[in-house]
Amino acid sequence: TKAVFPVAGMGSRFFPASKASPKEMMAVVDKPLIQYAVEEAVAAGITDMVFITGRNKRSIEDHFDKAYELEAELAMRGKTELLRIVRDVIPSHINCIYIRQSEALGLGHAVLCAKPVLQDEPFAVILADDLCDGESPIVKQMVEVFNQHQCSILGVQNVPREQTNQYGIVSSTPHTDDLEWVNGIVEKPKPELAPTTLAVVGRYILTSAIFDHLQNVKPGAGGEIQLTDAIEMLMQHEKMLAYRFKGTRYDCGSKLGYLQATVDFGLKH
Ligand code: G1P
Repeated sequence: TKAVFPVAGMGSRFFPASKASPKEMMAVVDKPLIQYAVEEAVAAGITDMVFITGRNKRSIEDHFDKAYELEAELAMRGKTELLRIVRDVIPSHINCIYIRQSEALGLGHAVLCAKPVLQDEPFAVILADDLCDGESPIVKQMVEVFNQHQCSILGVQNVPREQTNQYGIVSSTPHTDDLEWVNGIVEKPKPELAPTTLAVVGRYILTSAIFDHLQNVKPGAGGEIQLTDAIEMLMQHEKMLAYRFKGTRYDCGSKLGYLQATVDFGLKH
């Protein structure tokens, strides 16, 4: 029922566009990246959206909040279609929870900030700058895998070897066509040192035991508290699956990926 959206990052790869407004609010055609991510969670049956936010990110809260003046104005002018678009940003049964991460100490630290509201349930982690598009939404596919196997699931795809230093890289043994048992994971290995080219993209379903490890993990790659390092510890205690999801993933944290998403979504629009 719960998804965590780490949105406190600086977005430095998109400066100056993301200097004063969040990179998660950058639009692909007519919707901000964070809205695509939330819609994916809603489609998977998730009801509680936990945003790990920070300074300069207020527009994310405003985006998912009621816009009284705007709605009143549109209603008064009889602009019913526009009013519907503004209201439909998020269904009314969804709860939004905002937690501030005051220091950018890493993705693992961001997820740890969500602990007080997650209790003992498994939960999804969704990175909005990985825009995923599939006939069935990717998180929904992963929830189905979870329901069947009752263990943590990592969304993965193969990447070119020269890009392994941008991802968490998984070692695994095959289970079915699209599932593999994870037996190792390393954050951003150099291409010549990467054990495989199977990369984690920004979709995870994790059991709550991850928090025991996040609390103990030491700063890793880039001096940050890495989610990957806690996952590596979790994997030694619980079974874990890597899932080759069906669909396309756009790296909207990079300019080229963002452009590709804009063209593809634009053509479909
Ligand atoms: C993060 C994770 C990495 C993962 C990637 C997916 O890295 O640390 O393991 O493969 O997201 O996009 P970032 O892109 O935040 O540097």
